[in-house]
Amino acid sequence: MTGAIEKLLTETIGLDSASVGPTVVRQAVRDRMAACRITNPQTYKEHLTGSSQELQELINAVVIPETWFFRDREAFTMLARHARVHKRAQPIKVLSLPCSTGEEAYSVAMAMFDASFEAHEFKIDGVDVSSRNIATAERAIYGRNSFRGSHLEFKDRYFEAAESGLRPTAAVLKQVRFRVGNLFGSRASFGQEVYDIVLFRNLLIYFNRELQDRALICLKDLLAKDGLLLVGPAEAALPRLHGFISAEWPLAFAFLKSEPVKTTAPTVSAAIPVPTPTPKVNKSKPLLRPRPTIGNEARGQAPAKPLAQASESLIAVERIANAGRVKEAQEVALAHLKEFGPSAQIFYLLGLVQDADGAAPQAAQSYRKALYLAPNHREALIHLALLLRKQGDHNGAEALAGRLGRVQKRSGS
Ligand SMILES: C[S@@+](CC[C@H](N)C(=O)[O-])C[C@H]1O[C@@H](n2cnc3c(N)ncnc32)[C@H](O)[C@@H]1O
Repeated sequence: MTGAIEKLLTETIGLDSASVGPTVVRQAVRDRMAACRITNPQTYKEHLTGSSQELQELINAVVIPETWFFRDREAFTMLARHARVHKRAQPIKVLSLPCSTGEEAYSVAMAMFDASFEAHEFKIDGVDVSSRNIATAERAIYGRNSFRGSHLEFKDRYFEAAESGLRPTAAVLKQVRFRVGNLFGSRASFGQEVYDIVLFRNLLIYFNRELQDRALICLKDLLAKDGLLLVGPAEAALPRLHGFISAEWPLAFAFLKSEPVKTTAPTVSAAIPVPTPTPKVNKSKPLLRPRPTIGNEARGQAPAKPLAQASESLIAVERIANAGRVKEAQEVALAHLKEFGPSAQIFYLLGLVQDADGAAPQAAQSYRKALYLAPNHREALIHLALLLRKQGDHNGAEALAGRLGRVQKRSGS
C-alpha cells in the first residue's frame, strides 16, 4: 500500500522515496491516517486519491524543509553581481523555487539591498509545494536554526525582535511574494512570468534521473534568455547536461542559460558590497586546515606548503567542480591531496565530485575521510547521509542525521 502512495508522490511532486528513506513516507502515512481517524490503509489510499486537501497534508508531512539564511553564501554574491550587470529599467525578477520556509527568498532581498538596489528595482517570488512551509515563510519569524555559520552580521541590519524569534524588517518582507506551487504543476500556474534569476537549490537531489531532466526542462522555460540558474552543491553536474553554461564562480553553483557577459570571478573586486566577507583566500582563517592525523606531517615528512598556496589550490578545485567538469575536478583534487596533504575540505570536495560523477562508493569513502578529520563537518554529514539513503542504508543514514542534529544543537544553529 505504501508503494502505491510512494508512486503517487513521485508522480505529483517528483519525490523519490529512496532519497528520503522509506521510513519517512511510512511514518507520514501513519501520522496522516491517525489525523484522519482512519485505520484501514486501503480506505486511506482511497481518501487520499479523492481529496486534494489530504494530498496537500501528506505532501506537507513528507517534504524536507531544511534551509537557512545565506545558505552557500557565494550564490548570493554571484546573484547580486549578475543582477547588477543586467540592471535595466524594469525590475529584476527573481524566483526562489523551492523557497521552503522563506529564508532563501529573504536572503536574496538582503543581498540585493546590500548591492545598493532600490526596492522598486527588483522583486522576488517564493514558491514551494508545501503549504505549511509557505505559511511559515509568510509568518516570517525565525529561530536559531535559520541562522547558521559565523557570518551573521546581516542579522543586526535586517532583523527585528519578534515575540518568539527574529523577523526581517518591513523593507525586506515587502520585496517577497510567496505562494504554494508545484514545479511539476502546469506552466499556467506561473502565468506569463519569465525570471532573470532562478534559485533552484537542494531539490534535484530528491528526484530520480528522469525527473531531474524534467525539472531542468521546466526551469529553462521559466528563465529569461540571459538568465542565471543557481543549484545546490550536489547538483552542479546536471545543468550542463541541459546546455547551461557554468558562470565559473567558485562555490556559487551558478549557470547561465546562454553565453555569459564577462564578469570577473570574485578575486578582488569589491565594487558591489556583499552581505558577508567571501570565504576566499582568507589568510587569517584559511579554508584548508592542515591536520596531522593522516597527512604528511603524521608520517614525519615535509611540513605542509604555505596555507595561502593550499587555499588557492583548493579554490581551483572548487572552480573546476562548479564548472561541472567532474572528471577533471577529481584529478585536480587528487593532485591537491598529494601536494598539500589531507584536509576535511578537500575530502569533502572530492566526495562531491565523485558523487556527481556517479561514483557512489568512492564518494562515501571521501565523505567518511572528511568526517574522520572533522567529525562535525556539517556538509559532509548531510551528503553522506543522502548518499547512504540512496544506497538503501537507512540505518546508516539515520545515524548520521542524528549526529547532524546533535552537532547543530551544540552549535546552537
Ligand atoms: C531542502 S528544501 C530546499 C530549500 C531551499 N531552496 C534551500 O536550498 O535552502 C526542499 C524544498 O522543496 C520543496 N519541494 C519538494 N518538491 C517540490 C516540488 N515539486 N515543487 C516545489 N517545491 C517542492 C519542499 O517542500 C521543501 O521545502
